[in-house]
Amino acid sequence: MPIIAPSLLSADFLNLQHDCDMLNKSDADWFHLDVMDGRFVPNISFGPMLVEFFRKSTKKTCDVHLMIEEPGNFAEAFQKAGADYLSVHIEACPHLHRNIQQIKSLGMKAGVAINPHTPVEQLKDILADIDLVCMMSVNPGFGGQKFIPYTIEKIKILRRMIDEQSLPVLIEVDGGVTLENAASIIAAGADVLVAGNTVFKSNDPVATIKQLKNIV
Ligand code: DX5
Ligand code: ZN
Repeated sequence: MPIIAPSLLSADFLNLQHDCDMLNKSDADWFHLDVMDGRFVPNISFGPMLVEFFRKSTKKTCDVHLMIEEPGNFAEAFQKAGADYLSVHIEACPHLHRNIQQIKSLGMKAGVAINPHTPVEQLKDILADIDLVCMMSVNPGFGGQKFIPYTIEKIKILRRMIDEQSLPVLIEVDGGVTLENAASIIAAGADVLVAGNTVFKSNDPVATIKQLKNIV
């Protein structure tokens, strides 16, 4: 069964307590928290302060996806805020190995996020040091975009790379995941499905989460 990680970016920010309660009662496994700085991506979302509120509102895993430049400056702040997983973008990190070591030394699980155009082969040497790859299936910055089809091929390549080295790295797919394409994403080798609009724009988010969880 896939790990389901609803993206709170699509939640109702004037009723966050309601949406957190809904997720807590649902089959959702993780809270996916999207942090944007208006520089690495053309949008601004929220920072450590809100992550701390989410942390207090759930016992579920807080999976923080940093879409920011120089993430090393904020790793400690997100650890203090209660992040369990902290992912940084390979495209934002000229010293990726150092960023990963920093995240792990702070006691968090380390993830690397990768944009749709970046070859997954660039992850080869870092795979043994990380817990998760966040494979972007849209260009990061906004919820509600359309899944880029060639991502499926990239998930398959990444799955092979991870399995060849028998590594425990999770593949998370982020962007445009729907009830229609989830089965093919899982078949390609994904372990974690992020879903924003599919969950929060649904008439019955709890039922939609259950459907995603039981898709195969
Ligand atoms: C995009 C974010 C995603 C996004 C997913 O930059 O990283 O997590 O919120 O939302 P949907 O599922 O609506 O594409
Ligand atoms: Zn994300």
